[in-house]
Amino acid sequence: MKNIYSNIYSFNKIVLKKTVETLKQGNLVGLPTETVYGLAGNAYSKKAVKKIFRLKARPKKNPLIVHYFSLKEARKDVIFNDEFLKLYKRLCPGPLTFVLMKKRKSKISPLVTANLNSVAIRFPKHKIVRSIIKSLNFPIAMPSANISSRLSPVTAEDVYEEFKNKLTTIINGGKAKIGIESTVIDLTEKPKILRPGIISANEIKNFLKTNLSKKKNKIKSPGMLKKHYSPGIPLVMGKKPKKSSHAYIVFGKKFKNRRNYFNLSKKGHLKEAAANLYKIMRKIKNKGYKKIFVSKIPNQGVGIAINDRLKRASR
Ligand code: TXA
Ligand code: MG
Repeated sequence: MKNIYSNIYSFNKIVLKKTVETLKQGNLVGLPTETVYGLAGNAYSKKAVKKIFRLKARPKKNPLIVHYFSLKEARKDVIFNDEFLKLYKRLCPGPLTFVLMKKRKSKISPLVTANLNSVAIRFPKHKIVRSIIKSLNFPIAMPSANISSRLSPVTAEDVYEEFKNKLTTIINGGKAKIGIESTVIDLTEKPKILRPGIISANEIKNFLKTNLSKKKNKIKSPGMLKKHYSPGIPLVMGKKPKKSSHAYIVFGKKFKNRRNYFNLSKKGHLKEAAANLYKIMRKIKNKGYKKIFVSKIPNQGVGIAINDRLKRASR
């Protein structure tokens, strides 16, 4: 398929080779994952990691997630523990990120971890990103492919909208199925969710057969930044708009079809709502609406992750 964007590529063997070369040279690429699109660079290269922070305008104190193909590669950089291995077996590859202690001899650039002695690791499931990591002899540092504090991209075109031609290569892997970022769990002490996602705290609790910590975490992480995932216009939760120049994000079948109404899931499915969340917020912004209102969304299961993102977008 021919793209109208000169830097968006459909995936094939030649593009795989070119992408691998680009990463080996310490340059960046935009890649699809099952959660959101990522901005990838060699996690062992200071030069590449510096480029990630610069292009995203990301504060240096916000650590990045390192992505691996399998346990074998990750073992070189992090110290495994029982909880990690249990969850890995059940849920990986998939939309779950683990914070573990970094090995002293790890080659991960200290910039990646903001000089912390822990490191966040993930094993993405998307076929394209897996075939790319498999062809490399280093893991990739990969934050969401958006300017810091903005909405995460869920299509290759969204990535283009963020970085235009400042990024030479964006791989088109279709719309990200999950549509929100991975669940982040800290396993360096009593397991604790740092960022809710499609894999819920309950699911993890059941697999681990232990309660999760509810303590406020000491590690500052960007997912914890107050203002985040922002569409760039004000967002108000739990209220209805009074003007037609204001958009209304709704959930469930009781809402009528109106020009300024955007339904996350007519069927009332929370997973479908998560998959549509950033897509709809980006669409509303691009249509020129001045403000977003959001109806109440059930705060259970994936709803917890949706409300978390909306709350941060509203600050
Ligand atoms: O789904 C995802 O996780 C996507 C795709 C591209 O893989 N990536 C992503 O990365 O969302 P980013 O940079 O947007 O979010 C990284 C999250 C932040 O919330 C950060 O706090 C946390 O990971 N994090 C990274 N390293 C950490 C560490 N050492 N300790 C605690 N949190 C960490
Ligand atoms: Mg992000």
